[in-house]
Amino acid sequence: MKISNKDFSLLFVLIFVMSIKKISNAIDTLSTTQILRDGETMVSSDGSFELGFFSPENSNNRYVGMWYKKIPVTTVVWVANREVPLTNKSGVVEIDNQSNYYNLTIM
Ligand SMILES: *[C@@H]1O[C@H](CO)[C@@H](O)[C@H](O)[C@H]1NC(C)=O
Ligand SMILES: *[C@@H]1O[C@H](CO)[C@@H](O)[C@H](O)[C@H]1NC(C)=O
Ligand SMILES: *[C@@H]1O[C@H](CO)[C@@H](O)[C@H](O)[C@H]1NC(C)=O
Repeated sequence: MKISNKDFSLLFVLIFVMSIKKISNAIDTLSTTQILRDGETMVSSDGSFELGFFSPENSNNRYVGMWYKKIPVTTVVWVANREVPLTNKSGVVEIDNQSNYYNLTIM
């Protein structure tokens, strides 16, 4: 496929719009009626941490984790499913409070 200058401008507009959307969509709370899909992230209210799905280098496994939002090199500080990675990007995270616990389910 040949990429023209016009396509490039469009690409930039698209990336720009996507980054705005990402900022405005950033949530810091997940309620029991919401799910977080692979590709979506949550950002702590002070902007320090981001939670979402990631794959370590050289791996296709998907993990749910938390990393520093402000450090350019992704530095994961917590992994939810270290022992039970997902093998594709169909995962979702949900929270429930049906017991005395708040359960985070990754499926
Ligand atoms: C993703 O993996 C899950 C669990 O192995 C499986 O049930 C599901 O069908 C897979 N989805 C796709 C799109 O491959
Ligand atoms: C679970 O959350 C719902 C909605 O916030 C609330 O109405 C309900 O009382 C909670 N249940 C428990 C067991 O905490
Ligand atoms: C949530 O986790 C607790 C502790 O492991 C468990 O007892 C409870 O059954 C779980 N609740 C649900 C709805 O899975």
